[in-house]
Amino acid sequence: MEKIVFPKGFLWGGATAAHQVEGGNVNNDWFIFEQKPGKILNGVVSGDSCDHYNRFPEDFKLLKKLNHNAHRFSIEWSRVEPAKDYFSTVEIDHYKEVIKTLKKLKIEPMVTLHHFTTPVWMANLGGWENPDVVNRFEKFTRVIAEALGKDVKLWIPINEPVVYAILSFMDGEYAPGKKGFLRGFKVIGNMLKAHALSYRAIKEINPKAQVGFNKHMRVFDPLREDNSWDIRVAGAQDKNFNMDVLNALNTGKSTGQIKVAKKDKDLIKGAFDFMSLNYYARDRIKFAPFSPGRLFGKAVVPEGAETSHEGATGERPEGEVYPHGIYRLLKTLSQYKKPLYVVENGIGTNNDKARLKYVARHIAEVGNAIKDGMDVRGYLHWSTLDNFEWAEGYDMRFGMIHVDFETQKRTVKETAKFFSDLAKKNCIDKALLKKYEVTL
Ligand code: FCB
Repeated sequence: MEKIVFPKGFLWGGATAAHQVEGGNVNNDWFIFEQKPGKILNGVVSGDSCDHYNRFPEDFKLLKKLNHNAHRFSIEWSRVEPAKDYFSTVEIDHYKEVIKTLKKLKIEPMVTLHHFTTPVWMANLGGWENPDVVNRFEKFTRVIAEALGKDVKLWIPINEPVVYAILSFMDGEYAPGKKGFLRGFKVIGNMLKAHALSYRAIKEINPKAQVGFNKHMRVFDPLREDNSWDIRVAGAQDKNFNMDVLNALNTGKSTGQIKVAKKDKDLIKGAFDFMSLNYYARDRIKFAPFSPGRLFGKAVVPEGAETSHEGATGERPEGEVYPHGIYRLLKTLSQYKKPLYVVENGIGTNNDKARLKYVARHIAEVGNAIKDGMDVRGYLHWSTLDNFEWAEGYDMRFGMIHVDFETQKRTVKETAKFFSDLAKKNCIDKALLKKYEVTL
């Protein structure tokens, strides 16, 4: 095989989100949601989670040992602003310490400002359905950027706006558990505007900051490659889920069901310095006449295909493992002519051999994308640690590092060792693949 070489200074690391790892988050809408029966698999609550809020210094030391030079995490809005207009200096200082610790270890912080959780006070005002949320989020951004701005270069205002709108406001599977089709699009519209205000606020406070838009993308291919209905609905889902929000951001104009007010055009248009991709799997789409909510398509995992996201119970096979998908999506994102980062990619499984193979094959595809001229600057794996996987609770493990939730003991998985060697070498070569007995 030909060596797959990564550019000098390429960012290697993992990603987490506050509510999934910190523990003790009681002021956001997820805390309320978790207490309701039937919302989380096996009736668990996030509770102490990985206790990363207290253990971050040791966790980061371990990442350093594993040759990570970047780390993505989120700042919990509900900690910093637990009540409307009250900003906690104690919590701001906590995050200052988090960033200081990373910088000391020469691990580049990438900060997310909204990762699925919203303060209870904001949720009670209608959350992301209330247009006022955009000003509230901008205010929170300004407080954080003023306090931490000079030490943070890479920012992501909002994690996965479209996924959030679907799971939290269309399907009701995530907090706050609301349902409705148009409701979801209203949320995307508000998130787009909030993203743009946050982008401009960060840049105003720290002109050197790089602020990216975050997009979870899936590959939508027809299940039956020569069936025109499957082809049509796969195309519609790609447009609706992947492309509309990107094009609305790029043009500042309403696109598909996403409405952008004319007065907001200049605010939104081009409000990103880089694109950040979250990629997990491919959906093979079959025409489904009784599924209008999914644009008459249904994702079907072809027989014999490898699936992603298997929990301990194996209850949620979710899409097809398809490494070349990451290449195709990076290519799609290249059209915006801005730097690219992969900031989530992973598989929920207890089978670490399967994870190692998944990671090796996806990273090889990222390498191929770079070789073919795409400007990819980093790969951050989802996730650093096993954690609270939202509605799947603690059953679905995505970590490169195993967490025993009883004792809080961390154990490095083979995948983390592979990743560590790879980050050190900054390339995939024969010796690496041989050592970990993996083929591409
Ligand atoms: C993404 C989320 C992340 C995690 C992974 C598995 O959609 O951003 O928090 O749940 O999926």
